[in-house]
Amino acid sequence: MDLALDLCLTYSWLFDCKMTDIFIRRPWEKAPHDWTDILCAMSYIELRDLVKGKVHSEWPVTLQAFSKSLSQTRGCLTKQWDSSITLSPSLQKGMSEKKRHEVRRMASLVGELCKEDGCNLIGDIGAGLGYLGQTLMSTFKLNVLGFELEDGNCQNWRMQRATSNNLQTRCLRVDTSSECTQILRDSFRQHHSSVSATDICADSKVQQGSFSEQAGENFTPSSSSSFRETDECRVCMVGLHCCGDLTPATLHQFHTIEECKTLVCLGCCYHRLSLDAHFGNFPMSSQFKSWYQDSASQHGCSINHLALRLACQEPKSRWLARTDGEMEKHCEHVAFRAVLELYSHRKGFNWHKKHRRLVGLSAFSSFETYIDAVLERVGDVEGLSISMVKTALSDTYTECKEFFSYIRWYDALQVMLQELLEFVILRDRQQYLREKGYLCQLVSLFDDKISPRSIAIIAQKT
Ligand SMILES: C[S@@+](CC[C@H](N)C(=O)[O-])C[C@H]1O[C@@H](n2cnc3c(N)ncnc32)[C@H](O)[C@@H]1O
Repeated sequence: MDLALDLCLTYSWLFDCKMTDIFIRRPWEKAPHDWTDILCAMSYIELRDLVKGKVHSEWPVTLQAFSKSLSQTRGCLTKQWDSSITLSPSLQKGMSEKKRHEVRRMASLVGELCKEDGCNLIGDIGAGLGYLGQTLMSTFKLNVLGFELEDGNCQNWRMQRATSNNLQTRCLRVDTSSECTQILRDSFRQHHSSVSATDICADSKVQQGSFSEQAGENFTPSSSSSFRETDECRVCMVGLHCCGDLTPATLHQFHTIEECKTLVCLGCCYHRLSLDAHFGNFPMSSQFKSWYQDSASQHGCSINHLALRLACQEPKSRWLARTDGEMEKHCEHVAFRAVLELYSHRKGFNWHKKHRRLVGLSAFSSFETYIDAVLERVGDVEGLSISMVKTALSDTYTECKEFFSYIRWYDALQVMLQELLEFVILRDRQQYLREKGYLCQLVSLFDDKISPRSIAIIAQKT
């Protein structure tokens, strides 16, 4: 694993530059000198081979080694959970296709684990609108207690309807404080003692669940599992896309609260993780902290917010599914935005101050159309005449044109590193829970073409 972390830091020039800053930062200058010509000349077929780890003998040896080492390091990730439950039309109401996919798979896994571990209460962290909780309640007759930061979500009509069905949600900021631990623990105990013993799963519509091995480690839920009858409060803590610091907080509370016996958690928005001089929320495990300290000082760089941002971008599967035409379009859009960034960087002003999104997709038909749309949207360009700005932008475009082809391969190399960075984050979280003494596995739960953050952390207190 130290190899994966070390690889990420060795190729820090691949995450240290946002795509739209490519003409400002010129990351290709940090690439091995014999890579650029061959990468610029690659067809999309060859770029796809590179991303898949299929090397060509005429490529530079260091590029072959990069491609191979990334696929080997990432090779032994997880097992796969490929069963799902059916959702009644009323449960599906309001859910996007993506949410349906997530809820069907995750509910099936949580139901199976609750059966195995004798859990009689679900604690849904970052419950959102309560889609998962409602499904667990209605399908498995499990008691569910949701915790949600946003008052608006707790008040939502869907939640109100759920509440009348016994899904209760508390408005709470889940963090690592002892006050939060106390609130969660008291809520679990109170809720448990206030509801009658549950008759779990008697009429569930679960299709046969199974873990199918992809590679590597074993995760075998007991095949003869049945729901344990117990008066004890046994909580399965779940979190479907606990963004930023919410996943580390959930892992911490799972460890701290004795009643929590099982955890199923998926994170997202890694770029919102707190990082500070004492690591913050990455790395979390002692093992990774020690590797990271050595590696970071050796390479003179760190896993910063740009690395975390890359880690939560689209996965390889989606990138590989793009047609040549879509790749071409994507690179052209990036190039237009990068030219604009270079120009504004030199002039020292920020186009994005007034508008989060400058222009819509339709503006990208040509650079001229794009610039017209941008200038129309921003109105005033710091007192400069529009025709002067247009001419200067056109000159910047001409200056950058010879580097447009760099975007294609930088994008391909970034998508390769994305996978490794996410792998490092997930492995660190797994290691954190293992160091606390729990059985902990990473399970590929969703189809990552539908739901990009698709790997669940499962922990069980034995
Ligand atoms: C990406 S959404 C997922 C919502 C829901 N689990 C789902 O999949 O539909 C993350 C949710 O976590 C909530 N959240 C974020 N930080 C939180 C915190 N510290 N404590 C509790 N909820 C939080 C947000 O308000 C949001 O509803």
